Amino acid sequence: MRTDAEKSAEQQRISLEYQTSTNRRRQQHHGVVVTPTEVTDFIIQSLIHQLKTERGRDPDQGIEWLDPFGGTGIFTARLLQIAPLSPDRKRELAENCIVIEIDPDAAQVCFENLIRVHREETGHEGFVRVLCADTFALDPQYDLWADHYGHPGVIHLPTKH
Ligand SMILES: C[S@@+](CC[C@H](N)C(=O)[O-])C[C@H]1O[C@@H](n2cnc3c(N)ncnc32)[C@H](O)[C@@H]1O
Repeated sequence: MRTDAEKSAEQQRISLEYQTSTNRRRQQHHGVVVTPTEVTDFIIQSLIHQLKTERGRDPDQGIEWLDPFGGTGIFTARLLQIAPLSPDRKRELAENCIVIEIDPDAAQVCFENLIRVHREETGHEGFVRVLCADTFALDPQYDLWADHYGHPGVIHLPTKH
């Protein structure tokens, strides 16, 4: 079993590899800057604490998690890794997560990254829904949580400009 420090370092490495492989123009245009895991973990832990104290809920209890600028999935990976839940409850949590990423290559890396995290954290094969789309141009009529669960790969969404 890996330590959390090892898991955290791996997420940071995957994200930084993506950032350094992205050309400078797109880095600036799309703001490709990785969030350090110290920061992702602080945000996630604060959210989990707030959910519990203000709503009396755990993160797998009817919460929809959406990362609209997902990169390689560092936020969702860390959520699954540090949420204080049993493996079975983490499966439920993973079903309620969606990551959106505009770059098809990053979306693919994200999808594969989250498959590995899902396997390690839940003990089962599964995945997190990853949508390749421009978050700002999503059709507001489109229900992100409908339809697509069960699709084995990145979902490329049409966007409305
Ligand atoms: C600041 S990085 C953050 C990546 C990751 N969430 C993190 O915290 O390290 C922003 C990411 O959002 C993506 N992005 C930028 N504009 C976007 C848009 N309009 N729709 C979806 N993704 C977008 C970029 O390609 C990039 O991977």
